[in-house]
Amino acid sequence: MTAKVIDGKAFAARVRAQVAEHVARLKEENGLTPGLAVVLVGEDPASQVYVRNKHASTIEVGMASFEHRLDAATSEAELLALIDQLNADPKVHGILVQLPLPGHLNAELVINRINPAKDVDGFHISNVGLLGTGQKAMVPCTPLGCLMMLRDHHGKLSGLNAVVVGRSNIVGKPMAQLLLGDSCTVTIAHSRTRDLAEVCRRADILVAAVGRPEMITGDMVRPGATVIDVGINRIERDGKAKLVGDVHYESAAAVAGAITPVPGGVGPMTIACLLANTLTACCRAHGLAEPEGLTA
Ligand code: GUN
Repeated sequence: MTAKVIDGKAFAARVRAQVAEHVARLKEENGLTPGLAVVLVGEDPASQVYVRNKHASTIEVGMASFEHRLDAATSEAELLALIDQLNADPKVHGILVQLPLPGHLNAELVINRINPAKDVDGFHISNVGLLGTGQKAMVPCTPLGCLMMLRDHHGKLSGLNAVVVGRSNIVGKPMAQLLLGDSCTVTIAHSRTRDLAEVCRRADILVAAVGRPEMITGDMVRPGATVIDVGINRIERDGKAKLVGDVHYESAAAVAGAITPVPGGVGPMTIACLLANTLTACCRAHGLAEPEGLTA
């Protein structure tokens, strides 16, 4: 079998178009412009690229983008004061503090200062708790993007065996909660799981989010399974820099029913879902109907 390739780039473009359409309607019918504030502390080069892309995508869908670039030496008190200001600003519906933060800043403290209703990353402890108890939450963008692609491919996910490899707070744990919310039978596996290959082979849906290049190989994939590769690993092969996922693509694609490539799979969905979350936050803040198909 050769797997169907799930085109995350095309899917993300459709999500952004849906968001843009909804934003245009909000402006016309309600005089509202959803706004996203992104806070970057320091000069981490990868973070600078992410923040630039977020800004461009936010503008492209017709939202307001508020960028706050702070010096690496910014104190915790200064950063918390900025978050308080953004929490109080009615033009700001979503707040994202780009991680990682410089070492002298306590990321947990900073994230938990964000008004949970504006926490478009879904990292605030209240949102973690709401998601864990099956209540309406802001949901982390990458797992939300994976869920959208899975729903699109399978229709209903109810009763399917899902194995999530990886237990991070940003991807693995919320992904497992979302799949449970859609009535999958969920296993969370990780680097210490005994006989990982056997556990993975039970999966109708296999989500790889371990951060280890090409760790999931074709022999670990159940024939016909859907494989979602969250990994983005920069490696060197044959003297050339290469981007690979946590899945060994060629061997897995030969067995799977469907698979996301790297690049062009899960990656583009993350920013699309950040925009979707900002739109959702704006609608909730104003007691308006939430955008259909863009929430968990
Ligand atoms: N740094 C890398 N990915 C992310 C993300 O999804 N959210 C935030 N806030 N920082 C990041």
